[in-house]
Amino acid sequence: MADPLHTVSSLLAPVYRAVTGVDVDPVVRASDRADAQSNGALPAAKQLGRNPREVAAEVVAAAGSVLAGVATAEIAGPGFINLTFDDAFIAAELSSAARDAHLGVRRALQPERVVVDYSAPNVAKEMHVGHLRTTIIGDALVRMLEFVGHEVIRENHIGDWGTPFGMLIEHLLDLGEAEAAKELSVGDLDGFYRQARAKFDADDEFKQRSRLRVVALQGGDPETLRLWQELVDASAAYFHAVYRKLGVLLTSADLAGESSYHPLLDEVIRRLDAAGLLQQSDGADVVFPPGFTNREGEPLPLIVRKGNGGFNYATSDLACVIDRVERVGATLMLYVVGAPQAQHFEMVWKVCEMAGWLTPPARCVHVQFGSVLGSDRKMFKTRSGDTVKLVDLIDEAVERGIAQVRSRSAELSSDEQEQVGRMIGIGAMKYADLSTDRIKDYVFDWDRMLSFDGNTAPYLQYAHARIRSIFRKAGEEFLSGDAVVSLGEPQERALALRLLGFDQAVAESLERFSPHRLCTYLFDLAQDFTAFYEACPVLRADVDSVRRSRLALCDLTARILDRGLGLLGIDVPDRM
Ligand code: ARG
Repeated sequence: MADPLHTVSSLLAPVYRAVTGVDVDPVVRASDRADAQSNGALPAAKQLGRNPREVAAEVVAAAGSVLAGVATAEIAGPGFINLTFDDAFIAAELSSAARDAHLGVRRALQPERVVVDYSAPNVAKEMHVGHLRTTIIGDALVRMLEFVGHEVIRENHIGDWGTPFGMLIEHLLDLGEAEAAKELSVGDLDGFYRQARAKFDADDEFKQRSRLRVVALQGGDPETLRLWQELVDASAAYFHAVYRKLGVLLTSADLAGESSYHPLLDEVIRRLDAAGLLQQSDGADVVFPPGFTNREGEPLPLIVRKGNGGFNYATSDLACVIDRVERVGATLMLYVVGAPQAQHFEMVWKVCEMAGWLTPPARCVHVQFGSVLGSDRKMFKTRSGDTVKLVDLIDEAVERGIAQVRSRSAELSSDEQEQVGRMIGIGAMKYADLSTDRIKDYVFDWDRMLSFDGNTAPYLQYAHARIRSIFRKAGEEFLSGDAVVSLGEPQERALALRLLGFDQAVAESLERFSPHRLCTYLFDLAQDFTAFYEACPVLRADVDSVRRSRLALCDLTARILDRGLGLLGIDVPDRM
């Protein structure tokens, strides 16, 4: 209940079965020409070698009284069935949505344990604008998956291992531990890394020390490990400060850096060897997964142990799959990582499949995303051509949000202005990112994302606050689940149907792990609400039952906007 497409689909399924003798998905979808359409006759007819219009006609005839909520069912085109719902059916579905804590969104039929791998910055390196995407897309997916009942395990696969740590540790010693900790805690990660790098390139003695330090690190020398841990901790503290500013769910409990897979690396090699997959290439241990070639068309190896015996990024990702499948017990693993790593993951997962430690139902999905561009449509940079620090971007978003609220909402107290401004600034930045198809690049544009017009967070936040103000004026406790909804005006009907689409919107977003589908839905909802509000007086409605019915529509709209934005990690003020 509370999703009419689903309700009608479950009513139609037995009818299709009775008519065709086979199991058919009724394929009930939203439609421009009617309230919905059922397209199941086409695949069924194909399967049976029959005429789809005839099958559709038999379904309509047999449906008769079964489809209590459907006022008309008409056959169109090659065999679609256009459905128009009657108002009482819509009203009944609405009141069950209003009474449902999930606002009509159904629970997953098969809840899974899902690992979401996201954010994953590198120790002693700054978080830049690219980390914005993985961090907020991952965060939105975590919230949506949990909402529909999956068990979600967040994993922040930070880069906390590798040869650069030799020079980073030596630089830390040169600076003095206390001084180094200070530099890192204020977030000058890039500065620290650059200084280490510059010394490494210019100073042979430093280079030599750094190399020895890498050997000590890999050999497990306790003092070296202690210094390494200091670097990791200082960076992690900084990352978490950024996460708090941004309002995402990641905490230190979610850290699962590359180094945590060390105990499994020998096991990876052992298993690959036992599976007969290991080969030698230029002194390194490699696996050749079929289907991957280099520019010359030669087979492309996945290097799992370098000539010097060292493991690499691919080795820890191989171990990581073993860990997620066998220890964590995940069946779905999402990797929210930029598009350039697509081939790396394809090769790693292929090797896992070949070696037999990634088998159905367990599966990995690369939730990839495009780049953030500047107004010149090149990679987003500061005016001086540097990469943009994520933390600077967050601070600017908050400043701009607050300035916006100070100029628009003079009646709010200064504290409130700051609080609301923060929600608007951060919300605007997140929404601009989430509302474009993640695969595509997008242009970072402050004015556009902070605008109160168009498909933006401030527009949706404002729509929500406006509804809350209606209730403040009404001055009464109101339970929308109790009101009987009447749908006299076309705008009321359109809004009602939209409200009932929340379930489909969440389902579609999760189908492809594409938060922008939920954004589009929320924007459509806010527009339908505006059209309704312009055409239909609410508090000034003449008849009390109409007033109550309209208040019920307002209330459910506000709750869905609030919940929907919440699923995207965006806060919603009650007034602004
Ligand atoms: N730290 C990596 C980077 O910055 C991203 C890690 C993504 N996750 C993974 N399992 N490889 O490129």
